[in-house]
Amino acid sequence: MSFEMHNINLKSGETLKIKGKISDDADRFAVNLGSSEGHLGLHFNPRFHDDVDGAVIVCNSKCDDCWGSEQRDMEFPFTKGIEIKLYVTFKGDSFEIKLPNDHVLEFPNRLSLDKIDYMSVWGDFKMASFKFI
Ligand code: GAL
Repeated sequence: MSFEMHNINLKSGETLKIKGKISDDADRFAVNLGSSEGHLGLHFNPRFHDDVDGAVIVCNSKCDDCWGSEQRDMEFPFTKGIEIKLYVTFKGDSFEIKLPNDHVLEFPNRLSLDKIDYMSVWGDFKMASFKFI
């Protein structure tokens, strides 16, 4: 399952709210924000079975098709088969992701994007709706 959208024009201070359901047999999914699939300010990637860390959230950036260095967070409030809401706020110098247990992850805006024009969602997650707030 994958979804992408261009020209979303998300500005500093604005939030992307996503609702959806994690697959019953989920391995991983991702929410990406940037200017294209090759140029991402935020790759947010919960993994249920990472080879190194098991259940972990991997965040990264991608610049001209090259991944940056991963930020790994062991806070993992995801369960297979459940419905979740995620809130991703573009804060200008960083991204804040509010997880289903209200824990907030922060990831720096390494590419110094001044707005977000592209989003994609892929993997073992069925998006039901999204909204810019
Ligand atoms: C890779 C993976 C990509 C992305 C990246 C993040 O190993 O294939 O989908 O998650 O890590 O650093």
